[in-house]
Amino acid sequence: MGLRLKSDVIVIGAGAAGMMCAIRAGQRSRSVVVLDHAKLPGEKIRISGGGRCNFTNIHAGPKTFLSANPHFCKSALARFTPADFIAMVDRHGIAWHEKSLGQLFCDNSAKDIIRMLLDEMRAAGVQLRLQTEMLTVEKDSDGFRVRTSDGEYECASLVVATGGKSIPKMGATGFAYRIAELFGLALVETRPGLVPLTLDPVLLESIAPLSGISAPSEIRHGKTGFREALLFTHRGLSGPAILQISSYWREGDEIAIDIEPDVDLLLHLKKAKQANGRQSAQTALGEILPKRLAQYLTERQAISGNMADLSDKGLIRLCDAVQNWKIKPSGSEGYRTAEVTLGGVDTAGLDSRTMQAKSVPGLYFIGECVDVTGWLGGYNFQWAWASGFAAGESL
Ligand code: FDA
Repeated sequence: MGLRLKSDVIVIGAGAAGMMCAIRAGQRSRSVVVLDHAKLPGEKIRISGGGRCNFTNIHAGPKTFLSANPHFCKSALARFTPADFIAMVDRHGIAWHEKSLGQLFCDNSAKDIIRMLLDEMRAAGVQLRLQTEMLTVEKDSDGFRVRTSDGEYECASLVVATGGKSIPKMGATGFAYRIAELFGLALVETRPGLVPLTLDPVLLESIAPLSGISAPSEIRHGKTGFREALLFTHRGLSGPAILQISSYWREGDEIAIDIEPDVDLLLHLKKAKQANGRQSAQTALGEILPKRLAQYLTERQAISGNMADLSDKGLIRLCDAVQNWKIKPSGSEGYRTAEVTLGGVDTAGLDSRTMQAKSVPGLYFIGECVDVTGWLGGYNFQWAWASGFAAGESL
């Protein structure tokens, strides 16, 4: 067996949560080793936010997260806030801007964030070992023993920060769930979140001409609704509004699409009818919506002819088709494209202040592998920073 290294802390996973946890523990004079099977640390940070990393959201709060226990995230979020992360970013001279809806992005590159975390880890004396495969994890009275492709490591505290199942092509493994089960912790069923939704072949074929069209929308599922862009694709429905609602949607459920929710469409159509009764409904609707979408929706309602011939009932029917369009997605694109994994390590088994397993002293779970999932827009990184900091502060 290769090298044998003893440290206070081992963090498995050099992603957002793992690196933040290592930094905080190192700053508190713990000896910390971070292990990862990947070639490079923070690969998801690198590809996030279209390469500019939407690193936090100034509106992050318990209401912007999904979890079987909506209270669990409160403590960690309160003790490491977006302002705390911004302060770190500012200390490193990284330029950033607010795009919209409180979403903060790097001006230049997501690599600036990775560089910052690596610099902080170095300053805190953290050791990083990449391309290291985890073989077994055991616990005895002295602590934890992790057998890897690079030899054995021992530690008093073991932090699991290996993320969820999303984007298996990038090395997502579900490792955290296996470790949780190994130590008798419960799991909340996992499913893909922030993911495009797919449609049955008949509906998909009918909306094929709309592929590429984007429109401001409100997408609703029950009492939850998101106002952002809707995008029609050749695979189904996407865009931020769909990704957001996908985390709430369950197989078999219907969603309601309201296109141009800020427009009083009935008033517009009535005025159009009054002003020019000889124009078609498609033309009148095309003043508000992209032309192909206006054509699709009027044809779907079998509405043709002049506006003058359209009764008020017909106008209402058309408005309903545009602003209360009910669709039953057939599924989602799955983990292949999902930005996050919903569910995970059941928070009932974790201490919300420290992320430590209640039944296994010294074992911690942080970041995406825990059953706390944020909305789209920088919330998931904020959870990674906050839960990583909470663990790093206590171990
Ligand atoms: P993360 O997945 O970042 O890190 C886990 C680490 O563990 C990886 O380095 C991996 O290699 C390692 N690992 C996994 N299994 C292992 C094993 N068996 N052995 C050893 N190491 C192992 N969020 C946000 O807030 N703003 C954004 O802009 C985006 N954008 C975005 C784009 C895309 C395309 C995706 C897929 C996701 C996002 N996200 C996001 C979500 C965000 O990336 C995610 O929530 C965090 O990266 C989660 O951080 P973690 O540290 O928990 O896991």
